[in-house]
Amino acid sequence: MGGPGCFSWLFVAVFIVVVTGQYVPPYTEDCRSGMYPPNGTTFKGEVAWYTIDLDLAPQKRWTQLISEKKVELGSMMQVIRDLADAFVPSGKLIELVDKDLPLVLDTLPSPFKEEIQGIADASGLPLGEVLLFNVFYEVFTVCTSLVAEDSTGKLYHGRNLDFGLFLGWDIKNKTWLVTERLRPLVVNLDFQRNKKTVFKSTNFAGYVGMLTGIKPSLFTLTMNERFSLDGGYIGILEWILGRREGVWMGFLTRSVLENATSYSDAKNQLVKTKMLAPAYFILGGNKSGEGCVITRSRLTALDILEIDLKLDRWYVLETNYDHWKEPLFLDDRRTPAKKCMNQTTQAKISPATIYDVLSTKPVLNKLTTYTTLMDVSQGKLESYIRDCPDPCLPW
Ligand SMILES: *[C@@H]1O[C@H](CO)[C@@H](O)[C@H](O)[C@H]1NC(C)=O
Ligand SMILES: *[C@@H]1O[C@H](CO)[C@@H](O)[C@H](O)[C@H]1NC(C)=O
Ligand SMILES: *[C@@H]1O[C@H](CO)[C@@H](O)[C@H](O)[C@H]1NC(C)=O
Ligand SMILES: *[C@@H]1O[C@H](CO)[C@@H](O)[C@H](O)[C@H]1NC(C)=O
Ligand SMILES: *[C@@H]1O[C@H](CO)[C@@H](O)[C@H](O)[C@H]1NC(C)=O
Repeated sequence: MGGPGCFSWLFVAVFIVVVTGQYVPPYTEDCRSGMYPPNGTTFKGEVAWYTIDLDLAPQKRWTQLISEKKVELGSMMQVIRDLADAFVPSGKLIELVDKDLPLVLDTLPSPFKEEIQGIADASGLPLGEVLLFNVFYEVFTVCTSLVAEDSTGKLYHGRNLDFGLFLGWDIKNKTWLVTERLRPLVVNLDFQRNKKTVFKSTNFAGYVGMLTGIKPSLFTLTMNERFSLDGGYIGILEWILGRREGVWMGFLTRSVLENATSYSDAKNQLVKTKMLAPAYFILGGNKSGEGCVITRSRLTALDILEIDLKLDRWYVLETNYDHWKEPLFLDDRRTPAKKCMNQTTQAKISPATIYDVLSTKPVLNKLTTYTTLMDVSQGKLESYIRDCPDPCLPW
């Protein structure tokens, strides 16, 4: 575990275990089976679909969705405001966000600046707070993503999106404040041009970037946070201070889903584009062998791990640690996930059995907001809101 960045992360993790009084990891349960179709206490509902019309002016694209999700978005922002006020009493932090962050908007590329402005207009929320919400995902996303190939060469892509770490622990309810408020914002989006699907994604209403998406019959893509000393905070600070070389991660994934024309085109863009923050990209293609985990620093790809049947590597799986290093012992979701993938075997892998793997604690934990399953050849994306009632780990 290298670097002071990991050290502070470890420190905070220990602190949370002490404060929340939850189990001390590692804690794992037997691999789940028969969880699909989703049912029971870890399943909170299917995710509703909305269409985003790319033929509309960027400022108008989100108006309908946001007017339907206005209340939920407002209640999420209120939790963030409360947290900011608890952190820096007197409201100074949010004042800064409301007054100064809007100045950053003009530095963002199109169509993102217009879309964010449109979301602020439709929600009635201050522009600075909508921007903050869009920055958030660059830094607080811990997750599990995998691409697997079955015995016939078909590719499946699954992910749990775990979000809200450190963002307020509710001692009474044993829940994460922001995570709870995010669940009602989860939506499935169908981005269309000329009334035809260009790509689909599972998203949070109010966020214009992409964390999970599919370009039917071509590729599937998810992003996981990569913690590093030279991490997101520094890149974002530099951006605000005027050094604007990198691209926002969520904007890159959005551009790739919207405009890349093949697995190799997508891979090339994800490998080469300079970014504000390090990240893991998990990319699946449409034919045998096309699946990889790209480990990114801000400047370049440090490593690309690919599916390789000759090496018996029929799946690639990523949580939030470089695959060539040990995961943090307090946060090992990788070993249980791999154990369950291995138990499943290539012969039995399918969206249903991937759902089982993603339902096994601690791969499923209290930060898990949704599970998405994607089948590239059928162009199918399905997602489910998750919950993890006690006994369950905070992350
Ligand atoms: C979920 O489980 C309940 C009770 O076990 C059962 O009645 C119901 O049909 C199940 N629903 C689905 C969609 O499988
Ligand atoms: C805690 O849980 C209760 C019951 O589910 C709910 O009514 C309350 O709003 C929750 N509190 C917070 C702060 O989310
Ligand atoms: C995709 O390409 C079109 C045409 O070049 C461009 O107008 C649009 O802004 C691009 N989308 C993104 C998200 O970069
Ligand atoms: C797979 O993707 C390529 C582009 O990389 C495309 O030309 C081809 O039609 C796709 N195959 C299928 C079966 O959709
Ligand atoms: C899963 O299987 C792979 C390939 O056989 C092996 O390298 C790995 O150690 C296994 N992992 C676990 C956690 O069982």
